[in-house]
Amino acid sequence: MCGIVGYVGDKQAQDVVINGLRRLEYRGYDSAGIALVAEGRLEHDKRAGRLANLEKAIAQHPLPQATTGIGHTRWATHGAPNDLNAHPHLGSSQRVALVHNGIIENFAGIRDELERAHHVLASETDTEVAAHLLELQVESGVDLTTAMQRVCQRLQGAFTLVAVDAQDPSRVVAARRNSPLVVGLGEGENFLGSDVAAFIEHTREALELGQDQVVTITREGVEVTTFDGAPAEGTRYHVDWDLSAAEKDGHDWFMRKEIFEQPRAVADSLLGRHARNGLLQLDEMRLSDQELRDIDKIIIIACGTSFYAGMVAKYAIEHWTRVPVEVELASEFRYRDPILDYSTLVVAISQSGETADTLQAIRHARLQRSKVLAICNTNGSTIPRESDAVIYTHAGPEIGVASTKGFLTQLVACYLLALYLAQVKGTRYGDEISEIMHQLEAVPDQIASVLSRSDEVYELARSHVGTRSVLFLGRHAGYPVALEGALKLKELAYIHAEGFAAGELKHGPIALVEEGLPVLCVVPPRGRDQLHEKMISGIQEVRARGARTICLAEEGDTSIEPYADHLIRLPKVPVLLQPLVAVVPLQLFACELATAMGHDVDQPRNLAKSVTVE
Ligand code: M6R
Repeated sequence: MCGIVGYVGDKQAQDVVINGLRRLEYRGYDSAGIALVAEGRLEHDKRAGRLANLEKAIAQHPLPQATTGIGHTRWATHGAPNDLNAHPHLGSSQRVALVHNGIIENFAGIRDELERAHHVLASETDTEVAAHLLELQVESGVDLTTAMQRVCQRLQGAFTLVAVDAQDPSRVVAARRNSPLVVGLGEGENFLGSDVAAFIEHTREALELGQDQVVTITREGVEVTTFDGAPAEGTRYHVDWDLSAAEKDGHDWFMRKEIFEQPRAVADSLLGRHARNGLLQLDEMRLSDQELRDIDKIIIIACGTSFYAGMVAKYAIEHWTRVPVEVELASEFRYRDPILDYSTLVVAISQSGETADTLQAIRHARLQRSKVLAICNTNGSTIPRESDAVIYTHAGPEIGVASTKGFLTQLVACYLLALYLAQVKGTRYGDEISEIMHQLEAVPDQIASVLSRSDEVYELARSHVGTRSVLFLGRHAGYPVALEGALKLKELAYIHAEGFAAGELKHGPIALVEEGLPVLCVVPPRGRDQLHEKMISGIQEVRARGARTICLAEEGDTSIEPYADHLIRLPKVPVLLQPLVAVVPLQLFACELATAMGHDVDQPRNLAKSVTVE
């Protein structure tokens, strides 16, 4: 939700900032802007729409050379996505420029106060008040760092602020509360970014900041304080991926690249999980075996695709550990006054580690004395930092707004958690756990075999241009896969798509079925109780009403053939692991259909990758 860049050093700040914004554009793309400090003046430009509009404007009216600057790419909250509301925002005398991610909740009162003091606020944003307040402070004679500390004490809500002062080109000052910000540590130069992608081409050394901290970067160094001005420290870390991971690598979309990275991402997320004694080990797990044994209920909280990963996890955790699992949308969790105590484990799943709904939910859970375990793909992000334990997924940076490898690696982490709990609680024998681990370790090759047949899925997808509605059906662990397939199609192709539990159709949704409606059916493997037969009954019910069925079924399942207008084969895997292979054709389908419809797959309309507002 909004991307922020700051730079001070000896390079051209315009180039560093624009390149940083390009890598952060996935966070928001309603408008983009830049401000540079050049010879005692602020020079800035900002444009509605994609970063390309700003680049075009700068090419026509070049900004002066400068080595200090800030930039912003916006996902609009307060005020329409137009030039005026784009960031940076400036104070009345154009001495301070500021960019912001988040929401300043008490901006209306501050705006009234400023207007009564004859300030003219040009935009509808909540951000502009902070620029005016900062400028008032520096004009009173304090430096920008002190000004930022004082202003932050007045602000409520969630914010990352990054500012420059025309009269002090030596520093860029930033602050964070409940919103992401990392520092990139260079030689004779330093960087700020919403995430490390902003500066990965310059440095892989980063500094993680705590809550309610102000950071000042100069060429010579980095200084961190609290909002009260007391000295504070960040945590230094090395970024374990490089620029190539943030490039498309010959693919048309980051999403397609990320789909094809899934065999590696799953393999990496499984690496190093065996101890010498053959037992499963989870290095980052900061909960003791006794704490895990005491758990008598698990609540999984997450949003969007991560929520669907949680739904799959419920089947595995309950089956392998016999611990009851609830799965809840993070945005709903704390409002229903959930029953929690020290023996409840709350599992928060988040690719970005910054989703505001999930963050607020874990804070609520910890207040109730529950332990929180995060499943996260982003080192140094807020959710794992505020959790008692973490299992990191090793997907590498996910840049496409639609989550793909994030989802698969979350599933892997959920299976690992389930097996680890089963090991600690003794609900599964060691050889059973080893067998499931072997099955999981075979999955990367199985995903690769699904990907090797992507052309078949692409052709099918292209034949659906013009389709207005698609249904997805699944049962058991295939039900969340159906939901995920529908979400991918909604967010990328802007098509009405819904996922249903196949058995639920006859209770209402079957009324949607009409002649020619495409229905994608995730068929469970045979041999698992009556799941397969029941699914076929559901498929027959929609076919009888004119639906065209596209069935995803395991190799060798000939019984499905009479019921499938189109058949996509999946590798043979146990039912609980089937989501890992079944979701892949659905990702390919959505990506290709959206491409054929002329949509921007990496930056779908109205969305942002990292949703840092509630
Ligand atoms: O970063 P998170 O996993 O917390 O994000 C949760 C959702 O916002 C995310 O999965 C979203 O639904 C994706 N765009 C789906 O493709």
